[in-house]
Order: sequence, then C-alpha cells, then structure tokens
Amino acid sequence: MLKHSTIVLFAGLVVTRALGIDPCVDIAGQKWVSPAQARLCLQSFPVDNDLKASTIQTLNRTLAFHTSVNYQIQAPPPFDTEVHEDIIKDLARISESPYPSEFALHLDLFYSFRRLMDGHCTVLNLCYDSVFISYLPTPLALLTTEDGFQHVHIAPEAFAIASAEFPDQIELWQNALPGDLKGQLATLSGAKVLQINGQDPWLTVDANAMTTGGYQSFGTRQNSFFSSYSRGASGWSYIMGNFAQQVHPLTDSVDLTIQRVNSSQVEHITLPYRSRFGSSAKNFTDSASFRANNCMSQKGTNGINLYDSVSVSENIDTIPTIAHFEQQPQLDREDRKRPINVLVDAAPLWDIDLPEELHPTPPALNQSYSVAQFYMLNNTGVLALGSFSAANFTAFMGSLLDGLAELKALGATRLIIDVTNNGGGYICIAHWLHRIIVGPRATTEPNAGLLTTIRAGTLAQHVVENINAGGDPDALLLYNPTNWHNSSNLPFSTDYNWLKPTVNPTINGHADAFSPQLGAECQPFEMTPPDHALFEPEDVVIISNGRCASSCSLFSITMSKHEGVKTAVVGGKKETRQQYCGVVGGQSTHFVEMDTEIKSTGLKKVELAPPDFQTNSVLGITWRLAFGIDDPEKPEEWQDHPATFNIPVTMDTVNKPSELWKYTANVIFGDEIALPGDSQAYFSLH
Ligand SMILES: *[C@@H]1O[C@H](CO)[C@@H](O)[C@H](O)[C@H]1NC(C)=O
Ligand SMILES: *[C@@H]1O[C@H](CO)[C@@H](O)[C@H](O)[C@H]1NC(C)=O
Ligand SMILES: *[C@@H]1O[C@H](CO)[C@@H](O)[C@H](O)[C@H]1NC(C)=O
Ligand SMILES: *[C@@H]1O[C@H](CO)[C@@H](O)[C@H](O)[C@H]1NC(C)=O
Ligand SMILES: *[C@@H]1O[C@H](CO)[C@@H](O)[C@H](O)[C@H]1NC(C)=O
Ligand SMILES: *[C@@H]1O[C@H](CO)[C@@H](O)[C@H](O)[C@H]1NC(C)=O
Ligand SMILES: *[C@@H]1O[C@H](CO)[C@@H](O)[C@H](O)[C@H]1NC(C)=O
Repeated sequence: MLKHSTIVLFAGLVVTRALGIDPCVDIAGQKWVSPAQARLCLQSFPVDNDLKASTIQTLNRTLAFHTSVNYQIQAPPPFDTEVHEDIIKDLARISESPYPSEFALHLDLFYSFRRLMDGHCTVLNLCYDSVFISYLPTPLALLTTEDGFQHVHIAPEAFAIASAEFPDQIELWQNALPGDLKGQLATLSGAKVLQINGQDPWLTVDANAMTTGGYQSFGTRQNSFFSSYSRGASGWSYIMGNFAQQVHPLTDSVDLTIQRVNSSQVEHITLPYRSRFGSSAKNFTDSASFRANNCMSQKGTNGINLYDSVSVSENIDTIPTIAHFEQQPQLDREDRKRPINVLVDAAPLWDIDLPEELHPTPPALNQSYSVAQFYMLNNTGVLALGSFSAANFTAFMGSLLDGLAELKALGATRLIIDVTNNGGGYICIAHWLHRIIVGPRATTEPNAGLLTTIRAGTLAQHVVENINAGGDPDALLLYNPTNWHNSSNLPFSTDYNWLKPTVNPTINGHADAFSPQLGAECQPFEMTPPDHALFEPEDVVIISNGRCASSCSLFSITMSKHEGVKTAVVGGKKETRQQYCGVVGGQSTHFVEMDTEIKSTGLKKVELAPPDFQTNSVLGITWRLAFGIDDPEKPEEWQDHPATFNIPVTMDTVNKPSELWKYTANVIFGDEIALPGDSQAYFSLH
C-alpha cells in the first residue's frame, strides 16, 4: 500500500541537499501539508554517526530490563507465526547499515520494534513519529450483510467525521474526485470498497497487519485497519484506523474502486493523504529550529538522581515524554507512582470526537466517572470502560463500585463490559474490578491478579544490592523491596534481595535470569469491597474489537479463564480466529524510570548503564511479566485468548456503541445461533 520507496526518499534528499534548499522552510507554520512536502523536511537530516551509536546503545542496554527479549525471538503457538523477532540482532544490523537520512534510520528502528508485536516495547522519536500525521477522509469498516457476507466499506459516518474534523481540507478532497463525483464526497459514505490500489482490499489489510505491530494476534492487527470508537476521559472518541490515519507521511495517495450505496456502478477514485502537524509537535521556522525544538533531548527525556536536590527541584513538574503516548488519560505526579500496565502508541488515541449521532442513546448513570460510563438497557447493564486509568484513582475506584451497584439496584441481571480500544492503566483497578464483580473467592483473595516475575540482569542486581545497603533511605525507588510482595502476597523488607535466588531459564537458546515469583500489592484495597458477588460470571460478557491490552488483558484473562465469563470480539473477519485481548505484560515502564533508578543508586558510570538519550526519544518496556493460568509455568503473554463470540457489525450498527450493546444482549443472553463448521460461534443477523 505504501506508494513510496527508499529510492524516492533518497532522490529527494540528494536534490534538496545539492541545491542548498531548506525544505522545512516551505512547510513551517502550516497546519496541513502534503505527505511529500513533510517527507522532504523530515529526510533532510543526515545520519550523525555518534548520535546513532549512542541511541542504539541506550536502546540495547535498556532492553536488559525488558522481560521479553528472549521470548520474542520465537513465541510458542498460537503466536509462533506472528512473533519471531530478535531485537538485539536488529540493533546489531542497524548499527552496521548505512541510511540515506536519519528519518530512514528511525523508520528501521521503529518498524523493528513494531515487529515484536508488543505494545509495551515501543521506541518513538518525537522528531519523526506523529509529527505529521496523514489522514484520508474515508475511514473504513468491515460490515456484514444480512446473509452473512462481509465486505470492506467506507464507514457510513465517514463524511460526518471528515467534515467535522478536517473542515479546512474537505475542499481539497472534494476537488480530487473525478468527473461527476467532484464535490460529492458525502455520497461516498457507506460505499463498498471493491479494490484498494487495484487489488483485493484484504491484501492491503493484511499487509498493514504485518507492520502495524502492537498486538500479537493477526486478527487484532487486521481490526486495527478499521475505524472504531473509544471512551475517553472527557467524552466519546473516534478512532480512524490505520487506513485513514498514519503516523508517518509515507503514503501520497490511494486508489479506491468503489460501489456507492444504491448504485450498481463501479467507480474509481484517487484520494490524496494530507498530513497534519501533530498536536504535541513544536513550531519551527526552518530545519535548524525544527531540529532544535523537536529532535533533541529535553526535560523529561532522561531520568534524574532523586537524591540530587538540584535535579529534583528543576524537574518537580516534569512529565516524562512517554506520557503523551501512553494509551491512558494524563495522570498526576502522585498517581504515576502506582503500578501501571499500559500500551504505548505513536497514534493519538482521543484526538477525534465521536459524532453526536453515534453516541450511546440511553443517558449515562450519574455514577459514571471519566473513562467509566454506566448505561441501563432494559435488564442488561453496561459498563463502557475506555481505560484502566482516570485522573483521580480514588474517585475512579468508587465510581466502578457505585456504578455497578446502581445497575443492580435498577434491576440489571446481566452485564456487558465494553473495553473497545482499552490500552490498560492501573493494575490495581484491574484487580479491583475483578474482585467486586465476582466477590470474594480463591481467585480474588488475597490476590485478584496473576503472579509475576521481573528480569534480574546484572545491572538490576546492582541496583537492588545498593538499595539493600541503604542506598534508598527515603524509599523513593521502584526497585526498593518494600514496594513488592512475594508469592504469598507478603511484603519484602528493605534489606532483602528480592531478585534472589534468580531463576535461570534458557529461552530460545539464550540463558536468562528472572526473580523468584512475585505476588500482587493491591490488596487490601484502599476501599472495602462488598462481601458478595455483584454479578454471576455466566451473566457477564466482555466485548471489544480485540484491542484490549495490558491491565485490560489482566482483567479480561482472569475474568475469562478463572471465572468463565464470556468474551466477544465485535466486527472481526469471519475466517480469522479472534483473540479477546493481547499484550498482557504484568507491569510496564520505560527508559526514564530505569535511568532514574540507575542514577539514584550511583550506577550511571558502570559499563552496562545506558547512556542518556541525546535525541527526543522514548522507549517503553515490559518490566514485570505475568505467569499463565492454563500453563502456570509459562508467561501468559503468548498463551491463547480465543474469544467466545465474534459479533458482526452492519451498516446500521457500526461504531454505534448502544446499537452494538443491544445486539450483544440479544445474541449472547438470548438466542444464540452458531454457524456450523466455525470454531467460534458467529451470529447471523436474524
Ligand atoms: C504554533 O503555530 C500555530 C500556527 O501558526 C499557532 O496557532 C500556535 O499558537 C503556535 N504554538 C506555539 C506554542 O507557539
Ligand atoms: C547489545 O548488547 C549486547 C549485550 O547484551 C551486546 O552483545 C551487543 O553487542 C550489543 N549490541 C549493540 C548493537 O551494541
Ligand atoms: C438507498 O436506498 C434506500 C431504499 O430506497 C433508501 O432508504 C436509502 O436512503 C438510500 N440510501 C442512499 C445513501 O441513497
Ligand atoms: C442525576 O443527577 C442529576 C443532576 O445532579 C439529577 O437531576 C438527577 O435526578 C440524577 N439522576 C438520578 C437517577 O439520580
Ligand atoms: C425489554 O425486555 C422485554 C423482555 O425480554 C422485551 O419484551 C422488551 O421488548 C424489551 N424492551 C426493549 C426496549 O428492548
Ligand atoms: C479524588 O476523589 C476523592 C473521592 O471522590 C476525593 O475525596 C479527593 O478530594 C479527590 N482528589 C483530588 C485531588 O481531586
Ligand atoms: C513471603 O514472606 C513471608 C514473610 O517474610 C514468609 O513467611 C513467606 O515464607 C514468604 N513466602 C514465600 C513464598 O517466599
């Protein structure tokens, strides 16, 4: 699908450099540019070999704290065909390779990390990622007809979205349409897409699934291509999908062969992508100021020594850069210290509003708070949960309990939990929600989550040894043993080396080292949970588009595998096995946190310590890895999470949450019709 090549990138570079033209001047101060113009600017920076070597060393040495490096060399079934990336080898290869520009170098790093299919382990550089986001006015949807056939369509709400979100670009797209279609962009909404760039649309969908990363499951990555919705902290958001929104300006245009609604005519159109200057990018006037403002390290790029009062006072309000890319609302400084498990993605999650006409129609209950909204549909209660984080942890916890209790009080006997595009958040909210729904059981008391382990490499060992020796007197550090519980869910003392004795498995031929099993630290909760279940597991279904990760996975997996609640993926391809969640992790973190631990324990100068990033880069990692339920010896990360149901969406229900909930209530709690021959139940529409 990408109509570009390194040859094009290279040719542009040579021309602009030879002529001494500054391609960033042309686009300075503009909100919208063509992808080609944006590329010329981004590719105008040559590789600086010292910066390159230093960046690779930071990445390589920080990966020593990422639990999954050796597992990801070759994952077991069912992800053996999906996850097989040796990221350490990639870094060695990239070290040795020449690149025509720093942008080309970054793209190789970016896509190498994406191939881990792990939304926790992501490398971003704010010089290049989401600086110019490319859009089309035609998000796509996979719709199912009454007779059960699936086709790719332009989403029925496409024009409503594009005209509300891109009013200043609509004219350009209107004029790009050929012949009689000129000015008729609105009539494309709902059109069937017969071909993309002259080929079966599925070739493009699947090619995107090979590069988009973020989730292990191929089906989930197919779903990422299409539009969807998400409940954000301040309202409902629209997700354009990978076809209509791209984080790099690499694609100039797309050819579509379409059949409009109520038309038998086959029509060909070409739509240009347009690149919008990113909401978190910094203004510039030329390439020098672009580079200075967007490409170099700044406050929040690197860690600090928490025992150096000057650094601390200078950084008192600094938010780590990665916070802008975490798939959760912004948290305050205190709440950021809580254990978090969250996806990191270059694409902004909540930038675009869901059009009013798609909003859920029943009014939300008053107990709703931020990303948690409660609705009553006849005798089915709905909890729409867009994240496991919200601004006020205590208020969030209370809202979940009060909202569920209110649904029961209103007569709900069944519960739909919609976690579409939920990228995780607070681990203890996942445990809390599990505990309050199913009540006290062996699977919720004293630990409603999973056992975990952390990687115990040489540098991590030194950090803990220094803390054991009194190196963290104010208990400020993540590796302080007092933060963590052993597998009996009891806390360690400050002089206890909690990484020992190390467990030393050989993983894909590599010797590795992990801590003994760890328990969970959430219980007793800060609020008293009810002494009874709020809903019976058989009366609960968790639905999403498969894009439920991190703490959302911790919640869904324990609910499904321990308690037997049903799970459903909405809108997946019929022939594809759908996973109800992915990217489990256990607890996520990032370079800045690791660097802070190293600096605060006086270890920045040791040989294995990663150097500071000199570029405006971030690296997320999985810090703690959860053990499985079906196979408790192995990580849950690469175990199977097959959805119980795949729920088709239609022209009338797509991206309308309350229509999807009504349909779900009917088919899952009412008449279930399984299609013969399918391993997963799939519902026809009548
Ligand atoms: C950046 O430029 C845009 C458009 O020129 C302007 O609206 C905005 O206020 C500027 N932002 C800053 C931080 O200067
Ligand atoms: C990355 O670190 C490993 C040790 O963990 C080392 O063997 C390898 O050479 C390093 N790679 C690069 C590109 O520096
Ligand atoms: C398509 O035809 C149906 C039936 O005549 C009509 O209800 C609907 O409004 C038409 N849709 C469009 C987009 O023309
Ligand atoms: C919800 O809150 C509003 C405003 O405070 C109030 O008018 C309404 O009665 C409340 N609804 C319920 C069901 O409590
Ligand atoms: C509510 O449920 C009852 C019983 O299942 C059904 O008859 C009725 O049509 C439902 N009402 C709505 C608005 O769905
Ligand atoms: C958070 O919510 C709790 C409970 O509603 C409230 O008592 C507290 O003041 C709130 N904190 C902040 C910082 O708003
Ligand atoms: C956890 O710690 C407690 C208190 O030190 C100890 O009694 C218990 O044996 C430990 N459990 C495990 C599994 O190590």
